[in-house]
Amino acid sequence: MLDLIVRNGNLSDGRKGMDIACRDGRIVELAPAIDARAAREIDAGDRLVTAPFVDAHFHMDATLSYGRPRVNRSGTLLEGITLWGELKPQLTHDAIKSRAHQLCRWAIARGNLAIRSHVDICDPELLAVKALLEVREEIRPFLDLQLVAFPQDGYLRDPKAAVLLQRALDLGVDVIGGIPHFERTMADGARSVRLLCELAADRGLPVDMHCDESDDPLSRHVETLAYETQRLSLQGRVTGSHLTSMHSMDSYYVSKLLPLMREAGLHAVPNPLINITLQGRHDAYPKRRGMTRVPELMAAGINVAMGHDCVMDPWYPLGSHDMLEVAHMGLHVAQMTGTDQMQAAFACVTDNAARVLGLQGYGLEPGCNADLVVLQAADPIEALRLRAVRTHVVRRGQVIAEAKPQITMLHLNGDTETVDFTLSPTQPEPEQSL
Ligand code: FE2
Repeated sequence: MLDLIVRNGNLSDGRKGMDIACRDGRIVELAPAIDARAAREIDAGDRLVTAPFVDAHFHMDATLSYGRPRVNRSGTLLEGITLWGELKPQLTHDAIKSRAHQLCRWAIARGNLAIRSHVDICDPELLAVKALLEVREEIRPFLDLQLVAFPQDGYLRDPKAAVLLQRALDLGVDVIGGIPHFERTMADGARSVRLLCELAADRGLPVDMHCDESDDPLSRHVETLAYETQRLSLQGRVTGSHLTSMHSMDSYYVSKLLPLMREAGLHAVPNPLINITLQGRHDAYPKRRGMTRVPELMAAGINVAMGHDCVMDPWYPLGSHDMLEVAHMGLHVAQMTGTDQMQAAFACVTDNAARVLGLQGYGLEPGCNADLVVLQAADPIEALRLRAVRTHVVRRGQVIAEAKPQITMLHLNGDTETVDFTLSPTQPEPEQSL
């Protein structure tokens, strides 16, 4: 007897009518019309079944703190950092945990079952680190939370940061962070990248830096990050997050930079909702978009994932932790409206993000974890178009979230009809109806 069968699912790679059989937390078979019975059956009804969404970049310590102690009036990154500095002395262990658990519940409802969250270590008490380490363990049955030791005030600029970062790692934080563009000088930024990568090599840990989150085309710390990754043989373990200065860089220089990033096996993580909001703030018109060069990075063979970065915090007043909203914004900002490009945008919040986190057992194949999401959409592109309802979220073969499909009743000319915005198989193809 199986624990669960999901029947008649469309997969993101184009396969249709697939059944997925799960036992003891694993996918045991993936095939059309599996002849078996299970404790629970879900009829996907020719809708998309995908491996869970993954958020490759988030800030769980700041989330859901919007308006405390005040709102970000200028809307800039730097006022956000100042505001976070004002909020930090007011934080409590319990408040951080309660906001983080709330966010995790939103994430699970949206089918996001893995999050890499940066956590600010520039606090002598390491309050947020200790709170989020507890949350990581408490939420583990439902969601993989990976923590990055993030020196928000600068690894070198804040004289306490180096010791605190080591202490955070000793407590069990998973990844080494950094913020080279926030150091006092370009030289200090480069030195921070070198020191942090050496620490990662010593400790055998991955690296994920806020790198060049700036409109300054001369902010080139990603070049140093690629160099140190290569020098220390950290290939595949290092991520450059944001990389917004690449938007403004000279294209000749970028043509040299991309192969260096590829050689180093860097992962790139833009955060479209935040980049389009925070970058270009000092521009008159025309205003730069500020997101990194996603299609060009992909064409160079670099793994690109997208992160949510913020939900209702000092930097961003909106959001509900919906990775489809992230990919939707990302494909618009990057002008990725080709069919393959939209598919690629979907991968940025699923498969590619799982590679950034190094998730084991991720995917819809026999032997993988029985983690999946059923959506009210036929395929990834329709899911993006509609930011579709996640009707079922499954973790280790158990349904952990369910939602009713979104259907609206219309009352027109005395009749009642339903609208659900999907192009269901029973409806004519668009060209036939013209
Ligand atoms: Fe960030």
